[in-house]
Amino acid sequence: IKTQVGIIGAGPAGLTLAIWLKKNGIEAVIIERQSRAYIESRVRAGLLEQNTVDIFKDLGVADRLVDEGLEHHGVYLSFNGKRVRVPFDELTGGRKITIYGQQEVVKDLTEAWLSSGGKIYFEAQAEKIEDFETNNPKIYFQHEGEQGVIDCDFAMACDGFHGLGRKTLPKESYTEFTHTYPFSWLGILAHVAPSSEELIYAYHENGFALSSLRSEEVSRLYLQVDNDDTLENWSDERIWEELAIRLGTEGWELKSGPIFEKSITPMRGYMIDNLQYGRLFLAGDSAHIVPPTGGKGLNLAVADVKHLVDGLVDFYKNNSMEALDGYTKTALKRIWRAQDFSNFMTALFHKQEEHGSFQYSMQQAKFDYIAISKAYATTIAENYVGLPFEAFE
Ligand code: FAD
Ligand code: DHB
Repeated sequence: IKTQVGIIGAGPAGLTLAIWLKKNGIEAVIIERQSRAYIESRVRAGLLEQNTVDIFKDLGVADRLVDEGLEHHGVYLSFNGKRVRVPFDELTGGRKITIYGQQEVVKDLTEAWLSSGGKIYFEAQAEKIEDFETNNPKIYFQHEGEQGVIDCDFAMACDGFHGLGRKTLPKESYTEFTHTYPFSWLGILAHVAPSSEELIYAYHENGFALSSLRSEEVSRLYLQVDNDDTLENWSDERIWEELAIRLGTEGWELKSGPIFEKSITPMRGYMIDNLQYGRLFLAGDSAHIVPPTGGKGLNLAVADVKHLVDGLVDFYKNNSMEALDGYTKTALKRIWRAQDFSNFMTALFHKQEEHGSFQYSMQQAKFDYIAISKAYATTIAENYVGLPFEAFE
């Protein structure tokens, strides 16, 4: 298969990249190791920053997102049952977030790409990327028992944390940073109206809890659990009990309902400091993982793609690698900012050491400061809704 840009992975990064390139008259082909049904039902993130929604609108893929997504103009932060609201409108000049499930994003993007004539090879696993130090990289893959090859100008690894792209980068071309957290998240989806219209991030002596939602009928909630904990330890009854304790505040009640999805995700921070080698580029989770507190993962993937598209458009217009060669530097500024913010939110709201300890008292001091300082609340709000692209240019 001959194309201009070969893309590995039909997650948010790969699909957005393909659609955006096509708008600019640049050809791309996607290979995806899973089936279409699998990627469209994989439950993950749900928080879209303003930047991400604006990009999807510009690309013409946001009809359902505009209809069904829920715009939020503030967020609740809670510490030992005391709740404060951080209002975005007043602190960020009217920026906001939208709640819309990642699998809905993936459905919309897949549909848009395929109906515009784009090609995705599903159940096609990339096995080798070669010649990326030349002008003509090749991606070898297995599909329906046969070997295929994408012969392209650029190889884009949008293949997630366990993908092939990062493993293919020469080891000496990057430094790796890993930060592990001593806890995981148990996430559920339940058929019950959300008990709070806006999200609640809560610190409690028993651990962190997050109240989110997917629609007026479906709630999404998370609990901090131990890294070695298993779903067998968590009956539906115990989950609801624990959520009610951790999220509780005077005069408010958590509604419960049938749980239809349960999973445990470990938390980690992961970075590499180089996202390019010759004509092989990495975007999204293939290059970085942030802990989920703050909802940055999907948004970072889309932001990486923006910088890649800028570079590729410049290349095909002006035959210059200059913008593409600056991709790592530009993207890393936002990625490190998100890594820091996600770490900040994680450290602030998760149970780490006992009440009365130094660590705990620092968490309490930070939380108390949010309620009395507009400057501090603004710092949280502007990071949470996502800084504009111009801020990093
Ligand atoms: P992905 O969505 O991972 O897409 C990569 C694609 O590449 C996959 O479809 C994969 O099948 C494919 N692929 C991999 N290897 C190959 C290969 N060799 N050949 C072909 N195809 C390949 N973020 C949040 O903000 N909030 C959350 O609550 C949250 N929860 C999460 C829960 C889980 C269990 C996980 C795994 C992630 C979660 N994230 C969350 C992170 C967020 O979902 C990711 O940041 C986002 O999916 C990144 O998109 P991506 O396109 O870079 O990667
Ligand atoms: C969701 C996930 C997050 O990690 C977050 O910070 C906010 C919302 C969600 O799945 O709805």
